[in-house]
Amino acid sequence: MPKKSAQASLSAFLPLDLGGLFMRGIVASLILLGALGAIGQVHGHEVVDGPFGAIVDHQKPFSFRSDDERVRYARQQQMRAFSAHFRTIEASVKYGAPFDGLIAANAASLENLGQGLAELFRPEVPMESGRHGAKSDIWSEPSRFALHVKGFQAAASNLRQATNDRVPLAAPLQAMRHQCLACHQSFRVFAPR
Ligand code: HEC
Repeated sequence: MPKKSAQASLSAFLPLDLGGLFMRGIVASLILLGALGAIGQVHGHEVVDGPFGAIVDHQKPFSFRSDDERVRYARQQQMRAFSAHFRTIEASVKYGAPFDGLIAANAASLENLGQGLAELFRPEVPMESGRHGAKSDIWSEPSRFALHVKGFQAAASNLRQATNDRVPLAAPLQAMRHQCLACHQSFRVFAPR
């Protein structure tokens, strides 16, 4: 049976004799959570209502001090998405994880994300000085950076095409990996390990 929302289970409980402080405690907390949920915050955390009840998101809200921070944050999250799609494919192709059925969707996503790669670096926001992230060469050498963007897009199309054709993926995956590493070698400063 699907779980009911906090509100739905609350109205189901109320007409009954609840019996025992324990149940009353639960109901009281649900009412409190519901009331706070209406405001949208519990102790500075956001409350997200939905069919599974009023759920506190302990990680939010984020606070950004500047637009540059917002840009870096979104860019890095998007890069992590590139990485997660790539590594999911790699897990099957190279390391034998039993998820061949997921390869095509991940390859299609990489091809799509590749289309937005230049856009991701349109705002001229390099890493903070002394930190890690995007080198300013991205904006001072735009045509060299564009070559890497194009190279990645071509590798992503080849990989997606190979999944359609059902040919072995090791070589097109390695070719994509080269593109990731080459762009990073020129344009990214890694965090110290
Ligand atoms: C055209 C250049 C380019 C290509 C291609 C590229 N990256 Fe990146 N990547 C960058 C740059 C620049 C950064 C640093 C961004 C920043 O910190 O703002 C980065 C950052 C990252 C990060 C760190 C994100 C973080 O949380 O700090 C990961 C992980 C990553 N890339 C994975 C990949 C993978 C995997 C691929 C290939 C599937 C790839 N990238 C392809 C340029 C590229």
